Amino acid sequence: MPSKPASSLFPLLLLLSFVLLFIYSFIFGPTTPTTPTSTAKILATRSLACDLFHGKWVLQEPLTEKFSYDETCPFHRNSWNCLKNQRPDMGLINSWKWVPDKCDLPRIDPAAFLSMTRNKNIGLIGDSLNENFIVSFLCILRAADSGAKKWKKKGAWRGGYFPKYNVTVAYHRAVLLAEYRWQPVANDKEGLKGAYRVDVDIPAVDWINITNFYDVLVFNTGHWWGYDKFPKDRPLVFYRGGTEMRPPLGIMDGLKVVVENMVTYIEREFPKKTLKFWRLQSPRHFHGGEWNQNGSCLFNKPLEEDQLDLWFDPSNSGVNKDARQVNNVIREALKDTSFQVVDLTHLSEFRADAHPAVWLGKKDAVAIWGQDCMHWCLPGVPDTWVDILSELIRNSSSQSW
Ligand SMILES: *[C@@H]1O[C@H](CO)[C@@H](O)[C@H](O)[C@H]1NC(C)=O
Ligand SMILES: *[C@@H]1O[C@H](CO)[C@@H](O)[C@H](O)[C@H]1NC(C)=O
Ligand SMILES: *[C@@H]1O[C@H](CO)[C@@H](O)[C@H](O)[C@H]1NC(C)=O
Ligand SMILES: *[C@@H]1O[C@H](CO)[C@@H](O)[C@H](O)[C@H]1NC(C)=O
Repeated sequence: MPSKPASSLFPLLLLLSFVLLFIYSFIFGPTTPTTPTSTAKILATRSLACDLFHGKWVLQEPLTEKFSYDETCPFHRNSWNCLKNQRPDMGLINSWKWVPDKCDLPRIDPAAFLSMTRNKNIGLIGDSLNENFIVSFLCILRAADSGAKKWKKKGAWRGGYFPKYNVTVAYHRAVLLAEYRWQPVANDKEGLKGAYRVDVDIPAVDWINITNFYDVLVFNTGHWWGYDKFPKDRPLVFYRGGTEMRPPLGIMDGLKVVVENMVTYIEREFPKKTLKFWRLQSPRHFHGGEWNQNGSCLFNKPLEEDQLDLWFDPSNSGVNKDARQVNNVIREALKDTSFQVVDLTHLSEFRADAHPAVWLGKKDAVAIWGQDCMHWCLPGVPDTWVDILSELIRNSSSQSW
């Protein structure tokens, strides 16, 4: 019969295709770990046993000529874009590598990081030092997704969306974290023009609508809590439950109450699985006076370890002592909470050499505003913050994602 050879051929073909399938999967099987998701899994299981916050800056030679991003990154903010503003020693600034005492801090691998955070969102909330941080973060990540787009939803001030990985990284500006507003007084008694009312138990409207959006949150606040921003004739006045707190709180006590209340709010309203970080102060380096007293930071190398206390110890009442003071208040308020403290202060204290200083990209900026010895040149020190944060996210995500 003519059909017989065909029907006996059929099982043979079937067998052959199974054999081929087996050989194929055997040949190509071992390559699967290099696909993005598997790389992310491997990354996520490498655990982090070392303190990344203590170590030293080591100069890498020859000096860097290639930066992790350049002046064309679309996420730049002009006054921090030191390459564009032609700061001459950017190669040197970017050749110092932060080396923790007991391990190596790897540079972030943008593609592996975005694979690990696929379909996830990262939010930074706070003042312009968190904005400085996110500009670095966005410019670094962009190397892995040239389709990155600007993103400004849900009250965000600035952000980026990485379509290849469906990841959003954004910044919400809320300098005191709590809601505050100006209240003028009608009759100007004792030179008081009015006051800024701070509702210690109400988060600023800029981050009120993000409760279920972000998988990772990084908060900060700090340099606005001073008499420089809120002088005696325009002070902060604190309200709780809609009524003025009595007796009136000083500015550091106000900070403490606000951080405690914001933490309570976050722990109550945000999902448990959301990774919560609190970034400590970014130190300033005004030398010889405050920002409005010709304070300067024209340094060509980092400070030495034994200079740090002189600059920053509150007992020396120097110009830059506020960072450690604010940190003490915040550390206290974060005790026994679910927040991980990201102590970027110490490593940043060394880097008097890495602020925009006089390279601000505008002709009269220094005459009007003084030098910028508070924010950081980009590329620069915040790139190391990104390396550290990405390691912390990786370490934590291995438990919770
Ligand atoms: C992108 O991520 C969000 C979560 O952030 C998820 O809801 C959405 O389904 C994802 N989109 C795609 C196309 O995977
Ligand atoms: C927050 O979201 C709600 C509901 O979508 C909306 O009505 C409200 O206007 C939003 N508030 C802000 C400040 O974006
Ligand atoms: C800052 O420097 C300028 C120019 O040298 C000088 O005129 C001015 O008095 C200085 N201001 C302060 C507060 O020292
Ligand atoms: C990494 O995660 C482990 C497990 O949660 C934790 O014990 C450890 O402290 C973390 N390491 C760092 C440096 O945060």
